[in-house]
Parts: sequence; structure tokens; C-alpha cells
Amino acid sequence: MPIVKFVNEKKEIEVAEGANLRAEAKKAGINLNLGVNGYGQNFNKVFNCLGKGMCGSCRVLVNEGQENTNEMTKREVLRFKTPFVPDPVPCLAFVGHEDCMRLACMTQVHGDIEVESGPDVNLFGENFFS
Ligand code: FES
Repeated sequence: MPIVKFVNEKKEIEVAEGANLRAEAKKAGINLNLGVNGYGQNFNKVFNCLGKGMCGSCRVLVNEGQENTNEMTKREVLRFKTPFVPDPVPCLAFVGHEDCMRLACMTQVHGDIEVESGPDVNLFGENFFS
């Protein structure tokens, strides 16, 4: 059975093949519906889309074992990239994490993975004040 390692929470759990990452985290007492840069996590823990891939508050980084998860879903693409434009622009949280950012509620676990919850969003960029 696949093992999911939550880096920030320092916890490892064993899950069934194809299990939903957010649901398994919730069973283990881990809240993946976090706020932005530590703000709003108590709010998002209660007020979220209940795993429908709509609110984007369950962003995680799958730092190891991305190949052991399902393909990025259309809902994730809609959350992470600006839709309906010819050349989609990535949303701020997605920039720099294009290869490993997922929505936990849309992620199926098919093998061992390492997960970082609530990744920081670089709100100002490197050249904001220049
Ligand atoms: S819980 Fe809302 S996007 Fe995952």
C-alpha cells in the first residue's frame, strides 16, 4: 500500500491504492485546506468547496513521487492557469511550482509520495520594488 509522507506535519500514513489525498489527510487529522502564507487556515478549514476542486485552498506540493499520482485534472488546470485566453498565464501560487503543485482533493495516490502542505505564495515577486 502506498505511503504518503507529510513533510510539514512530520507524519506518514499508509493509504489504499488510488486513494484521494485530501480525504486520507483528513482521516489522519491533517488539515490541507490552508490559507495564504499562514493566514486564513482556520477559515479555510471550515469554509471550502468540500473537495470539488473549486476553491483552491487545498494546494499542496508533491515534492517526490509525482509519477505516483494521477494526471492533473481539468479543474486543477482551471485553478492554476488563467483559462479562456490563447496563451494561459499561470496564477501567482502556481508560478515556480508548475511541476509539483496539485490540489489535494483532485489527487489520487498510486504509490509513495512526499507532500508539502500550504506552500507559500510569493505575493511580491523578486522585482516588485524595483
Ligand atoms: S477543497 Fe476546494 S479545491 Fe480542494
